[in-house]
Amino acid sequence: MIPQDFIDRLLDRVDIVEVVDRQVPLKKAGQNYVACCPFHREKSPSFSVSPQKQFYHCFGCGAHGNALTFLMEHNGMGFVDAVHALAEQVGMAVPQTDTTPAQQASVARQYSLQDCLLQAARFYKYQLKHSPTAIDYLKRRGVTGEIAARFAIGYAPSGWNALQGVFEDYLNPQLVEAGLLVKREDGSRYDRFRERIMFPIRNRKGQIIAFGGRVLGQGEPKYLNSPETPLFEKGRELYGLFEARQAIREHNCVLVVEGYMDVVMLAQHGIDYVVATLGTSTTSHHIHSLLRQTDHIVFCFDGDAAGKKAAWRALESSLSQLRDGKRVSFLFLPPEHDPDSYVRAYGQAGFEAYLQQQAVPLSAYLLQALLQQQGEHRSEEGRAALLQQAMPLLKAIAAPALATLLRQRFAEQIGMPVAELERLLGIKRAWVGRKGQFTAQPAPQITYSLPQRVLRWLVLYPTLAHRVPVEELAWQEATEDVQQCIALSALIQSLPHCTTTGQLIQGLQQHPLAQPVLAVLHTLRPESDPEQHELESEFDAAIAALLSRSAQQRLEHLKRKDRESGLSREEQYEMVRLSIEVQGKR
Ligand code: UTP
Ligand code: MN
Repeated sequence: MIPQDFIDRLLDRVDIVEVVDRQVPLKKAGQNYVACCPFHREKSPSFSVSPQKQFYHCFGCGAHGNALTFLMEHNGMGFVDAVHALAEQVGMAVPQTDTTPAQQASVARQYSLQDCLLQAARFYKYQLKHSPTAIDYLKRRGVTGEIAARFAIGYAPSGWNALQGVFEDYLNPQLVEAGLLVKREDGSRYDRFRERIMFPIRNRKGQIIAFGGRVLGQGEPKYLNSPETPLFEKGRELYGLFEARQAIREHNCVLVVEGYMDVVMLAQHGIDYVVATLGTSTTSHHIHSLLRQTDHIVFCFDGDAAGKKAAWRALESSLSQLRDGKRVSFLFLPPEHDPDSYVRAYGQAGFEAYLQQQAVPLSAYLLQALLQQQGEHRSEEGRAALLQQAMPLLKAIAAPALATLLRQRFAEQIGMPVAELERLLGIKRAWVGRKGQFTAQPAPQITYSLPQRVLRWLVLYPTLAHRVPVEELAWQEATEDVQQCIALSALIQSLPHCTTTGQLIQGLQQHPLAQPVLAVLHTLRPESDPEQHELESEFDAAIAALLSRSAQQRLEHLKRKDRESGLSREEQYEMVRLSIEVQGKR
């Protein structure tokens, strides 16, 4: 724990103008300093730094904070690292009063593990310069010296104890702990990486924390990675993040690929806002950390089955990290390509054009993949299974606006009212239409005939069926849509447990009414549910209108028949009764 009063003193001592200016050159403008905002893209400066307030604020995107938050947001540093960085800039020593001796020891140990890795990296780099085979391999893969230097690529030579040339104390346990050596059962040690192209993995601060090593040519495993160590946790680190930081900010976009070589070769072709996961699937830590630095993540996977699987894992990890205003997309390469081979075949322009045209937003990919995975979603069973699979995903989405839209799209796709879906998901949406807060695009004004309206209500709110006087309607000579209303009401009345649309759909399998009911579901638009009593009185009015309209039609029919061929005794009674009824309604 760093004492609060130290942080106060630190912020007193630091000048935010200097801190920001070091990374974002500032111009004086009156009392303040301005620049184009580093947190969003803009052409004219709306980012302002006040030396009086020791505060920055962007009038464009609203980013604001002090010197500490600047380092945290801009450089992606954690709080403690940002405090240390600032303290170093002004020559203050960070007090460690509250740390236990064990914690202090662990800090000390990490520094020396880092030191081991740094020395090893220097050694590997030196070895690369002197290994014609390794240089030849990289050249054949098209890696230039410049890009190899940028990523500090090296070479681990052959021999079981080559690192003995670097570390006098080859038996120092920290070399094992750092993942550089492997300890045999008899206590002897050997170099983990031999005859491999070495890719140092750096943390956010640029310190080397691990390595990935590729065999020259064929051999198993193709890539050997450092084990997890106190410095290296695969699920949190991304290869190339340190190198790509600036570019990610400039493009406000990061491309996440699967391989070391993909990062390196894309960078060589001018696509340098790229990072790779480290032989693990994408975790929510990865996504969280990236979304702190950019608004848009594009996952780029091979078009093969493994790529699709990896994409799905990435999607699952993304859902809880989504925020409105942040975007996650997916790009699938043709099956024969990985990013490395694609960019070599088509160049930067070809790759970026493909990216522009083919990247699919998470929402579209989610729906598409769900519908595909559950191929058979036309039947009710298929839909139910689909719903089962989709529910945890839909529930996991953290961004409220996106979640709402996705639920609507999904509900549309499976032909279920969104209110019903939300009920299933346990989401309580206040009925906000009345208060004018629901901001989804207004539904196009479609007018429905009276029987169509009744049918829609019955489908959306099946319990209303119990208000329909089925017998009274049933004797009438009705048009097809009125007949459907009658039949559906009768059906629902006969299913005592059918109270929701979901249950109704379930109960309709193979039924002749399934068709008109699904037709209703396919035309649903985002709408909010009316209140129960309003719904009931509107529904009752509609049924009454339907009754009287049918009565009138029946009356016309009887009158015609009376003129043409005469009526039976019963029909005469009926005509008299209907005349009185219709008169009474007028
Ligand atoms: P790929 O097998 O797709 O290799 O592994 P690649 O990136 O195309 O490599 P090149 O082009 O043949 O050199 C993708 C990533 O999966 C991890 C590595 O991180 C690799 O970059 N991986 C792969 C391993 O960790 N171990 C392996 O044996 C293979
Ligand atoms: Mn490859």
